[in-house]
Amino acid sequence: MSPTDNVMEKLVSLCKRRGFVFQSSEIYGGLGSVWDYGPLGVELKKNIKERWWRSMVQERDDVEGLDAAILMHPKVWEASGHVATFTDPLVDCKQCKNRFRADDPRLKGPPGQPDTKCPVCGNKGTLTEARRFNLMFKTFMGPVEEAAAVVFLRPETAQGIYVNYLNVLQSSRQKIPFGIAQIGKAFRNEITPGNFIFRTREFEQMEMQFFVKPGTEGQWFEFWRAERMKWLQSLGIRPERLRWHQHGKDELAHYAKDAFDIEYEFPFGWSEFEGIHNRTDFDLANHQRHSGKKLEYLDPATNERFVPYVVETSAGADRTALVVLCDAYREEEVEGEQRVVLKLHPALAPLTAAVLPLVNKDGMPELARRIYDGLRPHFHAFYDDGGSIGRRYRRQDEAGTPFGITVDGQSTQDQTVTVRDRDTLKQERVAVDRLVAYLGEKLKE
Ligand code: GAP
Repeated sequence: MSPTDNVMEKLVSLCKRRGFVFQSSEIYGGLGSVWDYGPLGVELKKNIKERWWRSMVQERDDVEGLDAAILMHPKVWEASGHVATFTDPLVDCKQCKNRFRADDPRLKGPPGQPDTKCPVCGNKGTLTEARRFNLMFKTFMGPVEEAAAVVFLRPETAQGIYVNYLNVLQSSRQKIPFGIAQIGKAFRNEITPGNFIFRTREFEQMEMQFFVKPGTEGQWFEFWRAERMKWLQSLGIRPERLRWHQHGKDELAHYAKDAFDIEYEFPFGWSEFEGIHNRTDFDLANHQRHSGKKLEYLDPATNERFVPYVVETSAGADRTALVVLCDAYREEEVEGEQRVVLKLHPALAPLTAAVLPLVNKDGMPELARRIYDGLRPHFHAFYDDGGSIGRRYRRQDEAGTPFGITVDGQSTQDQTVTVRDRDTLKQERVAVDRLVAYLGEKLKE
């Protein structure tokens, strides 16, 4: 096992142990590359999505929100190019029935030896020519399972924004340039999923489409690249683990004229988790053609009509969660003991504070309960009286809880508690009636 596998394995195991992420349908042996978020995971992902929404929608006056349905008219996916081009080339083995991506390095064979064999069963001459396989999940709408009833689970949330762009424009009284943001599920029947929640078949996207006048897309592209990088740095992601990757001509998606990925250095290597795309008028022009409905914008200042260009920012909520988890995961030696700690940004941490009575007697549990009840309207807090105080701290370190509030013998005398900082391990004595303000200030730092 390589050291990188080891880190991922440890993270996957921590995620299960502490209730961040579980395998879907585990009691039935699991469902391939589908994951469920447990009590701490759902909070972490919700915090990421909320912070994204706040910065992309609530703190701006030129971006509106939307929540479009997952199911859309099947013609959407013809117009968007997904029916024709959202495919992977696949090769089948006629003998063992395994399927491989045509670019699987195992299919190449040694140089100068053309008769490639099946990488699984080893038979020669059993592989088919490459065939294109569409990555969209299909299902049937209504009671009849026939071709006319086929609908797709959306492979990106963006299309729900394009088909609603005029509705939003007219109802919100926005003017171009403006954007529409959306968070929602997307589905792809990935052939080579893996690396935990990195590449899955069901995932969430946080996407924003910014509609601009043709000719100005270059400056907006740069603007959004800078904004997105700033946002990631505001989460405390280590900058040396982030980099840009510009798509070469052969990497560009069918809709993109220019694209930059933001990559993170995961334990399994540098990989993309967010993209900024110049989609030109590709989507709107195609929807206009396929639907027969005009999707032009009339500029009130100049009376010009045009189909807007689109600059897209597209992030995976699950992949961003994996970035946040990988970046936060540390193994440290503290006072001669090993500890595992998630150094999560306090605003993202599933729990803000744990309230811990030192012992379960002498009035400490009663005071601790009162403190816990006082914190709950303000922060996600957790009450833990099980096991030694050291063990309780370790559990909260693994959960990434930034503050441990301990009620000890002195607390019942003078109404003060100790607040332990997860990262520095420093303990400060704070008056009980100042705790809410104290934690509020710390969260702002
Ligand atoms: N609307 C543009 C679009 O969908 P993409 O690069 O195909 O672009 C955008 O996907 C983001 O969605 C990726 O950067 C990634 O974070 C996330 N994503 C895509 N496929 C995924 C998968 N199979 N599992 C998890 N996240 C995925």
